Amino acid sequence: MQVPAQVRVGQVVHGGPGGVGGGRALGAAAEVEQGAQPLHEGVGAGQRLSGGGQDGVEDAGRLGGSAVALELARAAQVVGVVSGPVEPGHGTSAGAGASGSHDYAVTGAPEHPLAGTDRTPLAAELRAATSTLVDAQVASPRVDAELLAAHVLGVGRGRLALIDTIRAAEAGRLRALVARRAAREPLQHVLGTAAFRHLELAVGPGVFVPRPETELLAGWGIEHTAPGATVVDLCSGTGAIALAVATEARPGRVVAVERSPEALAWLRRNVDGRAEVVAGDVTDPDLLAGLTGAVDVVLCNPPYVPAGTPVPPEVSGHDPAAAVFGGPDGLDVVRPVVALAARLLRPGGVVGIEHDDTQGDAVPALLRADGRFGEVAAHRDLAGRPRWATARRA
Ligand SMILES: C[S@@+](CC[C@H](N)C(=O)[O-])C[C@H]1O[C@@H](n2cnc3c(N)ncnc32)[C@H](O)[C@@H]1O
Repeated sequence: MQVPAQVRVGQVVHGGPGGVGGGRALGAAAEVEQGAQPLHEGVGAGQRLSGGGQDGVEDAGRLGGSAVALELARAAQVVGVVSGPVEPGHGTSAGAGASGSHDYAVTGAPEHPLAGTDRTPLAAELRAATSTLVDAQVASPRVDAELLAAHVLGVGRGRLALIDTIRAAEAGRLRALVARRAAREPLQHVLGTAAFRHLELAVGPGVFVPRPETELLAGWGIEHTAPGATVVDLCSGTGAIALAVATEARPGRVVAVERSPEALAWLRRNVDGRAEVVAGDVTDPDLLAGLTGAVDVVLCNPPYVPAGTPVPPEVSGHDPAAAVFGGPDGLDVVRPVVALAARLLRPGGVVGIEHDDTQGDAVPALLRADGRFGEVAAHRDLAGRPRWATARRA
């Protein structure tokens, strides 16, 4: 299979900077790019919408035209239809001077002869890495293998198609990272960063890895943030929501509240002066007393998974339990957050709360039951599952 040069050169699969298509497009792109880990079987667009595609075929349906061609070419490589790397001009009759249609020289000889060098074919390394990750039951083995290779090589994932060989030292580093991922360390921990909308956030032990579906809540918050508004992000973790609002809207003030000392360290590092960090407990009835009735937008992605819910190894072993589980019905933190939002918001201010897909009735019901909200609305993720609720302070 031959991929047209313009397809290979132009392909961009990851969600890059900018708000193209808003949260929905960014969310979907980030899933493809990051191999996002769902919290559990019933939660998260991540695994169901992306995840997959061990080798491009599943992913292809979610990608744009040129990306589809690229993924199909990669899939063909993996199953052996194409024996070498997908490279511009290789393996066609349109070699240098043959058709005159290229503005670069193409010969039948490999660019980087392997004999006498320490180089190995990237395609072979990617096949081996993918196989290792398949054996480890990683949800998106090919995507993760490519992202790890791109990380090692210091290029975007889309550039891999233009690289035919890698040095032994790079192959060694890639294998070491693949081994960590095969041990079910989250991809984002291995990479050291997580993509969230246009942000690249530092992540690691002690902080919750932001998920693509939360980009939808953040996008809603951005849309409801008027210039000069005061915005509060409760349960801030890495600061994903707070920083998305701070950088994509024009708020006057963004306050990020987090309780965990470990998470606070990551939060402060990510915020870097772009929001105010408050070490606090969102179940504390006196939290942010000075902002009572003065907040325009409250956003919250709390711990909401019902206790005892089975979660994948990446979650059980690496996301802090206090960031994931919310008591017997998952609503232990949501309940006080509803009351806190009602106190903080000015009349007409809005609140958005992410929740488990089993809580599509319960969280809107809590907002209605509080008695201080109107316009209670339930929202669904890209897979059509109820994942967040919003309301306006009366
Ligand atoms: C699901 S994570 C969300 C993190 C981030 N907002 C995001 O969307 O990626 C929940 C966060 O709430 C924090 N948290 C849990 N209970 C809290 C509480 N009572 N007060 C403040 N933060 C809390 C956890 O440490 C964790 O960082």
